[in-house]
Amino acid sequence: MENSNKTIEVTDLVKNYGRTSAVNGISFAVRKGEIVGFLGPNGAGKSTTMRILTGFMHATSGIVKICDIPVAAHPVAAKRKIGYMPENNPLPEELRVREYLKWRAKLKEIPFRKRRKRIEKALELCDLKRASHRIIGRLSKGYRQRVGIADAILSQPDIIIMDEPTIGLDPHQIVMIRDLIASLRGRMSMIISSHILPEIEMTCDRVIIINGGRIVAEGTPDSLRKDFIDTTVYQAEIQGDLTSLKENLAKLDDSLEITGNGNADTEGFSEIQIKGAANQNQSENILQHLTNIPNLRVRALNKHKPTLEEVFLAATKRSWDTLLPDTDPDESTFINQS
Ligand SMILES: Nc1ncnc2c1ncn2[C@@H]1O[C@H](COP(=O)(O)OP(=O)(O)OP(=O)(O)O)[C@@H](O)[C@H]1O
Ligand SMILES: [Mg+2]
Repeated sequence: MENSNKTIEVTDLVKNYGRTSAVNGISFAVRKGEIVGFLGPNGAGKSTTMRILTGFMHATSGIVKICDIPVAAHPVAAKRKIGYMPENNPLPEELRVREYLKWRAKLKEIPFRKRRKRIEKALELCDLKRASHRIIGRLSKGYRQRVGIADAILSQPDIIIMDEPTIGLDPHQIVMIRDLIASLRGRMSMIISSHILPEIEMTCDRVIIINGGRIVAEGTPDSLRKDFIDTTVYQAEIQGDLTSLKENLAKLDDSLEITGNGNADTEGFSEIQIKGAANQNQSENILQHLTNIPNLRVRALNKHKPTLEEVFLAATKRSWDTLLPDTDPDESTFINQS
């Protein structure tokens, strides 16, 4: 990867809060225009990393470069490249939306002659034009989040860093934020943290999963599925005897595992799950085999695509298993939260 192609470069980042180690030596890079999802359980170190990236907090050690500028040595220059929406973004309740953005434009040292245009553009992109005169303290959560995003994009920075931009939003507002992020695609690099994993999957090019201050998985959602999901699950709707089905399917492949609760619907069909080897598609063979079993009817067969949530659970569990054998994650200091 060309150096000039990296907008963010993090090397061996460490952050200790007193005796608590929040970030434990992480390294990654973000390319120009790339949208990266930053995932991890509560207390994993996401917000801490974001605060260091945006120059709001010093690292204990390690190097962060923003568009080739080392943040530790040149925090002001690096900050100019970034629009940041912090976790639980505090906004001045008494100001009107446009007043707030005017104040922020001034603070960000956007040249006076450009300010008006930039504010209008940010209001437009965040669908805030009609709310621009409203007092922030009286806005709903979704509107406040949009004000936070409008602030982040105001100076048209190269990089946007958003810490849980969709937290607490209803599905309509989540779709709006997703569309907004999509409309910014290509104009800037983005790092977005979220616990709403379908959101991340729809929005991001690449995902970084951290746990206990370390990167435990990194890649596109599809590559992570390959790395972390060790079975392929098929879902079928069948009518017939489950025990004889199990015996019969073993003739096709004796490693297939079949589960189902046997609860039939009004038409006598019940759902079963067939677990097979990972990274293989046996749908056709299984379907053919099922349809040839006497006294068995098949109404549907689908290969289940593992969700990012399943990948997340597998990746974080694997890291707990390898790093903390015999330790209950809930009791470990690994995910401690003060
Ligand atoms: N200001 C602070 N002082 C002391 N410890 C802190 C401070 N901020 C965070 N921590 C600790 O650092 C660790 C990482 O916290 P951080 O807020 O970065 O996690 P996170 O991944 O953003 O979690 P969440 O999903 O809950 O937002 C946690 O153990 C947390 O308790
Ligand atoms: Mg956080």
